[in-house]
Amino acid sequence: MQRINSAAELDARREDIRAGKDADRPAIAVCSGAGCAGLSNGRVIAAFEKELESQGLAGKVDLRATGCHGLCELGPNVVIYPEEIYYVHVKPEDVAEIVKETVQGKKVVDRLVYSDPASGEKAVHLSEIPFYKYQSRNLIGNNTRINPSSIDDYIGIGGYAALAKALFGMKPEQVLDEVKKANLRGRGGGGFPAGLKWETTRNAPEKEKYVIVNGHEGEPGAFMDRAVFTGNPHLVLEGLIIGAYAIGAHQGFIYTRHDSKLLKQNIDRALKQARENGLLGENILGSGFDFDVEVHFDVGIFVSGESSALMRSIEGKNPEPRPKYIRTSVSGIWDKPSNLNNVETWANVPQIIEKGAEWYTGIGTESSKGTKMISLSGNIVNSGVVEVPFGTTLRQIIFDIGGGIPGGKKLKALHFGGAMGGSIPESLIDTPLDFDALKKVGAPMGAGALMVMDEDTDMVEMARFFLTFLTNESCGKCVPCREGIQQLLKILTDICKGEGKKGDIETMEEIADVMSAASLCSLGKTATDPLRGTLKYFREEYETNIH
Ligand SMILES: Cc1cc2nc3c(=O)[nH]c(=O)nc-3n(C[C@H](O)[C@H](O)[C@H](O)COP(=O)(O)O)c2cc1C
Ligand code: SF4
Ligand code: FES
Repeated sequence: MQRINSAAELDARREDIRAGKDADRPAIAVCSGAGCAGLSNGRVIAAFEKELESQGLAGKVDLRATGCHGLCELGPNVVIYPEEIYYVHVKPEDVAEIVKETVQGKKVVDRLVYSDPASGEKAVHLSEIPFYKYQSRNLIGNNTRINPSSIDDYIGIGGYAALAKALFGMKPEQVLDEVKKANLRGRGGGGFPAGLKWETTRNAPEKEKYVIVNGHEGEPGAFMDRAVFTGNPHLVLEGLIIGAYAIGAHQGFIYTRHDSKLLKQNIDRALKQARENGLLGENILGSGFDFDVEVHFDVGIFVSGESSALMRSIEGKNPEPRPKYIRTSVSGIWDKPSNLNNVETWANVPQIIEKGAEWYTGIGTESSKGTKMISLSGNIVNSGVVEVPFGTTLRQIIFDIGGGIPGGKKLKALHFGGAMGGSIPESLIDTPLDFDALKKVGAPMGAGALMVMDEDTDMVEMARFFLTFLTNESCGKCVPCREGIQQLLKILTDICKGEGKKGDIETMEEIADVMSAASLCSLGKTATDPLRGTLKYFREEYETNIH
């Protein structure tokens, strides 16, 4: 692979890639995301390889193992290009017919197309399926169009153009200014303005600075970061390199999940390709800017996703959080200024630089700009990864995109933010997706895991579920968190068994107050949020079990 040494050479490479691609050439995109992998998509891919060979089409049809398409509920999913015909629940035994009828004969295999569970109405093309029709898939949309193992696919769709624009057309301060004007807010939980954090690290006195991708994604029910990172790793990498340039960092770290082989493979491959192509390492694209990246794996406990714990883990120490008054953006890894952002936050950066802050701020609400990826799970017809503009209501997400509640049941509650999030009742379903609006009603968005609960859900059991999860995830360093979680869990378990005692609710409220006030990090401070939320909106469910 030849190194690219200038912006002009990058443009020329892109032109070559595009010229070599026939827009009418058939392509088969088989989802290889984690959800479809669990449904034996590997056998589907092998069947396509065999069938293309036996029908004389090897080399004439592109076969891509792609990242998650979004509609995980109906996997394994397959898209046939150029028509963008979408097939669901594809099995190895369907493959011969797909190749013969659709790839060769341009006919649709009716039994494999999407059929609306309520109306029975069919949708042949991806863009007609309600799940996709109502989304704005700015980040995840390219997952079906590219092979994540091909840097040429990414360059061909315009990849690394934003990096070239930043390196050759903008000073680092201008890049920073654009991100600040875009009001990009962190997608990892807190919604903190990325530009302000970048600025703090940039202005910190130490010369050596670091940038980090938080790809830990430990929030229960969250799977959107790995969907975009596995499916389009160069997008995240491009955002990181642009951020490093703006901040003045020459070393980056990717902190990612240890348990996903495909994710690891795709990140490692993307880094190698970027180095070989002159997009990473010394003198990137001939600009004089040097930057490289190291990959570190999480240690599998939830708290290792917290900023200071994550940085200790990268240093090779136990992932224990530090007090918040030491800001990691000023004193992080090895006490150097370290800017940490979530996978999705970095993935937003290339489009901001390419299309500008004015374009970006045209999407979303007053205080929350751009789109947000949501992992939709629980009692919902279409579980999967959704991407919508901020401002979309929860009703639109649940019913228009998610297809509503299975079995004609009623919606009871929604829970955002996993173990540190909150549940709200059905009556608040018209709340818009917005950092501040959701926080105000008691369901802070967290990283974007949205769990849907039907009328049969026991809300006390829900609160207990999240506390049970946290018992194994607290690092145990401080007493209020370590002991508080255990005490609450004991009381909640009694209540769930119908053995609650008078005064239990008040005791739990007292413990929760102490935990929020005296815990060192956000895990302990917000571990009681699911409990508080359910007590606020569903208190009678606790009271009926107290005698
Ligand atoms: C217990 C705990 C776990 C966390 N886990 C993650 C995580 O898995 N991914 C993530 O991006 N942020 C996680 N965070 C938030 C990070 O501390 C940090 O705020 C975030 O990575 C910053 O990125 P952002 O500004 O782009 O959101 C966690 C926080 C806490 C307290
Ligand atoms: S609040 Fe919990 S997770 Fe955070 S430092 Fe204390 S014991 Fe560890
Ligand atoms: S994993 Fe296949 S659609 Fe999500």
